[in-house]
Amino acid sequence: MADSHHILWQQAVVDAVSDVAENIRRIVLRPERPCAIRPGEHVDVRTTIEGEQHVRSYSVVNAADDGTHLALSVFRTPTSRGGSVFMHSLQPGQRLEITQPLQNFPLRIGAPSYVLLAGGIGITAIAGMAALLRRLGADYRLVYVARSRDAMAYLDDLAAMHGDRFEAHIDAEGVPLDVRALVGSAPEDAEFYMCGPIRLMDAVRRAWTERELEPTNLRYETFGNSGWYEAEPFTVRIPRLGVETHVGSDESVLEALERDGVDMMSDCRKGECGLCQVKVLELAGRIDHRDVFYSDRQKEPNTKMCCCVSRVVAAEPGTVLTPRPTILTIDVP
Ligand code: FES
Repeated sequence: MADSHHILWQQAVVDAVSDVAENIRRIVLRPERPCAIRPGEHVDVRTTIEGEQHVRSYSVVNAADDGTHLALSVFRTPTSRGGSVFMHSLQPGQRLEITQPLQNFPLRIGAPSYVLLAGGIGITAIAGMAALLRRLGADYRLVYVARSRDAMAYLDDLAAMHGDRFEAHIDAEGVPLDVRALVGSAPEDAEFYMCGPIRLMDAVRRAWTERELEPTNLRYETFGNSGWYEAEPFTVRIPRLGVETHVGSDESVLEALERDGVDMMSDCRKGECGLCQVKVLELAGRIDHRDVFYSDRQKEPNTKMCCCVSRVVAAEPGTVLTPRPTILTIDVP
């Protein structure tokens, strides 16, 4: 899904910060080279974590028409790899390095109708699309899902802006989303845009495939950090290269191998493009596939994985324990 793009770095100044939901902070930036921003675009932010430079991607929630101000909203994850902690520490007047807007998740204008689905912080990628479709007078439906009201950024604003085109599904209030019903009710020629946790997107993909809807009408953006299991530390080995390294619960296999000097291929780093796939040679435990690149059938034999997001866990909860630490033996292209 990653579009090719030319990356231009620039300085930006933090203009304002505010908390917009539990663990979610809105950060308004003034880029030094403003440009108009389209729905679905994000910026990459360069952060320094424990002396090492990292790049993190954040969707632009909204922006001034001329791009002089743009707002990000950052969820501080319990297993933060440092990026969200850094972002939450920003204060007005501080400078940081960001890219010009990058587009991996374009909204196609002119579809007969749209369904937009946001899970949790996924609203950051979807809110701008909904705002544009409203301005264009398009036929759309905006569905926002979360575990609790407190975790939903911009909930009241979205409800007010989109009226009866908007619906919220909140687990804690006994109104969970019925994914099959949502997909089942979408018009056959609707375009469906979603951003949220991998479980939600997997469920939508399954329902979409079952209904035999046009695959290209289902478009998504991933977080790349939400899996089926809690992240655990483990060891990764590449016998051919004589490499053995520790993968902490707050980093990816890709990051751990790069840290050890292994020359790895990657692009999206979000489980979408498949460029970082590795061959699994041996594993005591199971793979927590967190990508949207492979189909369910491709994931099933557990012979390959996208190492920018997918991890391994010791065993299914409640099953016989496998030896710890879990060891993943792979080969790389
Ligand atoms: S780098 Fe794109 S799937 Fe891993």
